[in-house]
Amino acid sequence: MTLHPGLAAVASLIGMWRGEGAGQYPTIDSFQYTEELTFTDVGKPFLHYIQRTWSPAGAPMHTETGYLRVAEGAAVEFVLAQPTGQTELAEGALMATVDGFTCTLQARMVNSTSAKQVDATERRLELAGDVLTTKFAMAAVGLQMTHHLASKLHRNTPTTR
Ligand code: HEM
Repeated sequence: MTLHPGLAAVASLIGMWRGEGAGQYPTIDSFQYTEELTFTDVGKPFLHYIQRTWSPAGAPMHTETGYLRVAEGAAVEFVLAQPTGQTELAEGALMATVDGFTCTLQARMVNSTSAKQVDATERRLELAGDVLTTKFAMAAVGLQMTHHLASKLHRNTPTTR
């Protein structure tokens, strides 16, 4: 399958990433998690994305899915659905680096009536070779934009899985 030319800037994301993360928020107890991200080329001008996380004991934690698209120039659009009733339309610019890129995405939110209120989110992706670092902050449950998650993931090659 030939990769759509519009995806050249994010082609290095394609595949599976695994690693460890830590979460916190002023209203909750801090926690650790294992994270797995998969970006899949489906032959269209976007990548399909699935994230899964587990507690240190192996219990399923947060999961989310969506689509990542590169619009005009280096403008990235990341459409995300949370099973907890929030949806995000995250947008930001991709900045190329020597061995990857950095991208900060800011999201407009739509919350279901039963969801916890999340007013805005900010996601940072830093790709450097075979290491992907993620950061996530949110303005939620009445608080200003505050850090919630950080993870460091490694490209998962067939020999490690
Ligand atoms: C790695 C992914 C994530 C993990 C492991 C994670 C984990 C957690 C945990 C353990 C809690 C505390 C217990 C609970 O309320 O369930 C929590 C709370 C929360 N999380 Fe996350 N979360 C993740 C991603 C997200 C995302 C993407 C959003 C929003 C779009 C989000 C929004 C919230 C909210 C609103 C709360 C409730 C805070 C409160 O009640 O004061 N989380 N999260």
